[in-house]
Amino acid sequence: MAVLKIARMGHPVLRQVASPVDDPKSPRIQTLIEDMIETLADSGGIGLAAPQVHVPLRVVIYGIPGERLGKEGEAADPIPLSVLINPRLEPLGEEMEVGPEACLSVPGLMGLVPRWRRIMLRALNQDGTSIDREAVGFHARVLQHECDHLDGVLYPQRMTDLSTLSFAEESRRYSGQEAED
Ligand code: NI
Repeated sequence: MAVLKIARMGHPVLRQVASPVDDPKSPRIQTLIEDMIETLADSGGIGLAAPQVHVPLRVVIYGIPGERLGKEGEAADPIPLSVLINPRLEPLGEEMEVGPEACLSVPGLMGLVPRWRRIMLRALNQDGTSIDREAVGFHARVLQHECDHLDGVLYPQRMTDLSTLSFAEESRRYSGQEAED
């Protein structure tokens, strides 16, 4: 296992549309997943997409601690570390909400991003079995952020008010706003 180098905004791999994974159980993909898990743990982030470690394949890992959930009546159960292969998202309903986001590939910054409030996730896990998961609020936001990486999209491209793009340190100081990725 290895901690991998994280690509930063401006690297072409982050603008590429990633390719689907043919065989989730192949040794190459299993090693990639192990390395991504170690890289995410090392970074202290919530989610990581394979293009962020310079691998243009449709693989995402994420896990959300309970204290980041449970707002506005959402379920507060932590989301355990999950591996998503070839994930697909579909909005459920029309409702969108605006919330803070940050990204390991855009270090130091944060911004307010509109996202679907409720989505359906379909993916395979590392054993090749299917995952069907409904997500709401912050959980849905994390999934939309991570899956955007697979289509070469970073959160600033989703922002509708660039005046909210700020250094996280300043934002914490002046508005108490925290964002994580
Ligand atoms: Ni990100």
